[in-house]
Amino acid sequence: MQVPVLTIDGPSGAGKGTVSRLVAKKLGWNYLDSGSIYRSLAIALQETSVDLENSSEIVKVAQAMTLEFDCGDELIVKLNGEDITGQLGLESTGNIASRIAALPEVRQVLLKKQQDFRRPPGLVADGRDMGTVVFPDAENKVFLTASALKRAERRYKQLIEKEIDANLARIINEIEVRDRRDMEREASPLTMASDALYIDSSDMAITAVVEEVLNLIR
Ligand code: DC
Repeated sequence: MQVPVLTIDGPSGAGKGTVSRLVAKKLGWNYLDSGSIYRSLAIALQETSVDLENSSEIVKVAQAMTLEFDCGDELIVKLNGEDITGQLGLESTGNIASRIAALPEVRQVLLKKQQDFRRPPGLVADGRDMGTVVFPDAENKVFLTASALKRAERRYKQLIEKEIDANLARIINEIEVRDRRDMEREASPLTMASDALYIDSSDMAITAVVEEVLNLIR
């Protein structure tokens, strides 16, 4: 029997990470933060002089990188043995990740790295194309979204809490640019799987979203 998968897709800042982690903890399942794989590749590329449009060179860097994930209370990621957790959340990392994620060859080479997370007793997979491309046979799928303003406000709060300088107007703009790029790209664009449950978290507490997702599994 296939290991069960719950996919949670949606735009950045919708609360996917927090909800997925809490649901995975409740169920005792593994957790895949697929965005962190694209972000790790973005960090690996920053250490090279590879052009961000050059798919074949980017693919070589992706094939050569080794990633280790420690999915405890806080996700810790090591790239080629080096802890890169601190750089993962930077806006600059997210922007490069979104650009390289538009390249089909890059998505293809990262596909298996994501599917390898499907291990017993189950997997909660968070991203943009978990339910449509990476785990199309998942029995439970969620599309979690929120308005761009709400998402920007949440991101702003997170940055301020981490004592990182932030500007709300700029974040709204970056979110809109990133949404557009993620939704309009040809390779696995951000789109809702036809069999996914749609949740708009704009006016919902995280606990209510978690409850709704757990009800789906039950
Ligand atoms: O979820 P995130 O913000 O960490 O993702 C960073 C970028 O990676 C996002 O802008 C698009 C890309 N991404 C993707 O294309 N497919 C995924 N499954 C996850 C992320």
